[in-house]
Amino acid sequence: MSFLTSTASWQALKQHKDTLPHMRQLFTEDAQRFENMSLKSCDLLLDYSKNRLDDKALSLLFKLAEETQLSKKITAMFSGEAINTTENRSVLHTALRAKADKQVFVDGVNVMPEVQQTLTKMKQFVESVHSGEWKGYTGKSITDIVSIGIGGSFLGPKIVSQALRPYWNNKVNGHFVANVDGTSIVEKLKVCDPETTLFVMSSKSFSTQETLTNTLTAKDWLLDAGATQQDVAKHFVAITSNVEQATEFGIAENNIFPMWDWVGGRYSLWSAIGLPIALLTGFTAFKELLAGAAEMDDHFATAPLKQNMPAIMGLISLWYSNFYQAQTQVVLSYDHYLRGIPAYIQQLDMESNGKSVDLAGNELDYTTGPVIWGGEGTNGQHAYHQLIHQGTALIPADFIMPLQSHNPIGVHHQQLASNCFGQTQALMQGRTYSEALAELDGKELSDAQKDMIAKHKVMPGNRPSNTILMDKLTPKTLGSLISLYEHRTFVQGAVWDINSFDQWGVELGKALGVDVLERLESQNNCTELDASSNALINLFKAGQI
Ligand code: F6P
Repeated sequence: MSFLTSTASWQALKQHKDTLPHMRQLFTEDAQRFENMSLKSCDLLLDYSKNRLDDKALSLLFKLAEETQLSKKITAMFSGEAINTTENRSVLHTALRAKADKQVFVDGVNVMPEVQQTLTKMKQFVESVHSGEWKGYTGKSITDIVSIGIGGSFLGPKIVSQALRPYWNNKVNGHFVANVDGTSIVEKLKVCDPETTLFVMSSKSFSTQETLTNTLTAKDWLLDAGATQQDVAKHFVAITSNVEQATEFGIAENNIFPMWDWVGGRYSLWSAIGLPIALLTGFTAFKELLAGAAEMDDHFATAPLKQNMPAIMGLISLWYSNFYQAQTQVVLSYDHYLRGIPAYIQQLDMESNGKSVDLAGNELDYTTGPVIWGGEGTNGQHAYHQLIHQGTALIPADFIMPLQSHNPIGVHHQQLASNCFGQTQALMQGRTYSEALAELDGKELSDAQKDMIAKHKVMPGNRPSNTILMDKLTPKTLGSLISLYEHRTFVQGAVWDINSFDQWGVELGKALGVDVLERLESQNNCTELDASSNALINLFKAGQI
């Protein structure tokens, strides 16, 4: 038995789970349940009252956090300890958004001056593009930014830029390319003009195949349009920790923005990887984004666990994963600008906590990261919400909604909100058999038919959800929201005693992909691999099935 599953709190939670009444009853018994189980911080409100929790369950979860030394682990992360043990790295995305006068040390060196210098370089660059001072090879100003990157070097900047669409200063257009599928870049370049397009190449390692291939294609496109090799510097900048490779590749040294080992890819939008965000929204909005995240960092680092939003959310999520065997969790954004947030949290959480050994390398005897999925409200209500309401799986849900819309036309926002709140209510209370039967009163149906239909209309309820509200989606509230989910992910990893900051699982596929590529390019029939892989490779070479 692992340390975690043998703790007193874990054992007590196992027992306690079966004694909890239906949430309907919990609400009936406690008129103050919302006041008692909601929390405001960093311009966000978390309502966690619609969860299968009572005071005892909550206090046992906090005890579990204590027994697993969560507070100590939080301090270790913020103070720059090398908590990414398999790569011997600190985990300091929080330093990227910390106040300028703060000191954060990695191996005895304060990293803050370098962070500030990079922000200054970003600001100057953004201003020179916006003012038109930065010119393309024919002397024209930049109109289009094409960001090339993948994974953490793509999704953060893309989703944040999308979410902050109302804040774009409209000096430039933005496009994002990640996939190595040629269609992706070809379709983006169709709407761009080589004379006025700037490519922002983002790759921490500068060795990611997809990004290198897309960058080469972009460079060829520029040269084919008539630019010379010397002109490339006017159209390409890069963000990387591998300056040597980047210069060798042909990026002018002055056009390189640094990245550091102590920033993980999926936590990197706060670094120069966020340059596309700053280019689209302006540097002021980017700084507000950082400030919102920093505020949540302070809250996470200092608030007692019982009033700590990321800790509460992390423990609730773990409660369902480990004690209710909830295999998946859904994130539902009731805001069109936030439609990408489920995908962002999916990458953040699943790449971080999709692990099956503890820090010491022991195989785990408990579940870790759930499958995170989701989408945009209200669309999902007409599709997969059926399963969330009535399916056999328990799927805890997060509903995210700003109270004020950026586009307050007609009754749209009231209807959006009514759907959001109506869904959480329906999930919680469900519909009993007698309620379903009562709804059929007066219908011309036999008793047997009524019984059969009522059984189909029963909704078990007791289905958990969190609701996260903010006044309005702003750069600052978005920063706090993303930081909240980063720390929620951390909390779970800390209690599970896993390394949330490496991603060895993606490596084997990459290596085999390189081997397969060689085989695809070879003249010979492939016979050395398993029968399926041989056949698929040979079919591809033949070009027909
Ligand atoms: O393949 C996964 C990954 O390693 C991510 O963790 C990372 O964000 C992404 O690839 C891109 O890596 P890079 O920034 O080095 O190109």
